[in-house]
Amino acid sequence: MRKRLIAGNWKMNMMMGEAGELARGVVDRAGGLAENIDIILAPPYTALGAVGDVLRETGIMLAAQNVFWEESGAFTGEISPGMLADAGCSWVIIGHSERRQILLETDEMVRMKIGASLGAGLKVIVCVGETLEERAEGRAIKTVDAQVVKALTGVDIDDPEDLVIAYEPIWAIGTGHHATPAEAEFVQSAIREIAGNILGDSAARIRIVYGGSVNEENIRDLLAEPDIDGALVGGASLRAESMASIIEAAGAK
Ligand code: 13P
Repeated sequence: MRKRLIAGNWKMNMMMGEAGELARGVVDRAGGLAENIDIILAPPYTALGAVGDVLRETGIMLAAQNVFWEESGAFTGEISPGMLADAGCSWVIIGHSERRQILLETDEMVRMKIGASLGAGLKVIVCVGETLEERAEGRAIKTVDAQVVKALTGVDIDDPEDLVIAYEPIWAIGTGHHATPAEAEFVQSAIREIAGNILGDSAARIRIVYGGSVNEENIRDLLAEPDIDGALVGGASLRAESMASIIEAAGAK
């Protein structure tokens, strides 16, 4: 039985003070469920300290939204896996579509970031997902297949629970149009099969979560699918009430 996981990706939102308050709101409302499921908050870099202070001893875990693949050196503006661990992170989100599309992050960069992060003891949420155009042309599975294969091939994964794949169809992100549970399950079961070709039996233990307009209304139906092990939540994670409701829905089953 895979442990469910709910992660809030705050993206480029929240000043330090607001971030601490939001984290406090989540801890107060849903912190008790951290024993049943993995709960993760991913504030921007500048608020990692403030949020980390609030999360200490609560069981809710801290994530960064990005990382670089080298440990130190002349890489102006970048942050290493070791630095994230030092800042209190146990998780990192890698390869979000916003980074792939806006910052031109490639599959090779994603693979290097995953390897470096796991090597430094961080757990990883790697994001994959197709565009609306790719979906319309019937290429959703092909796109996601290539992303998963390129992300995972040759990467050392000691514990399959340290790697989470987030299926985030780009057309569903921030649009209010989430994938139906059946649409998400169709792709996510394919992802598990693809991961199985690379990782063998341990793919059965990898958590695959859905992201894209998840909210307190749709989370239950999504979680009813066998290959949807949780959610990567954007907009709805910016309000303590909605994030807590989503966590409660995942922690209840
Ligand atoms: P929304 O939940 O705002 O659609 O964002 C999803 C996402 O990109 C999480 O990483």
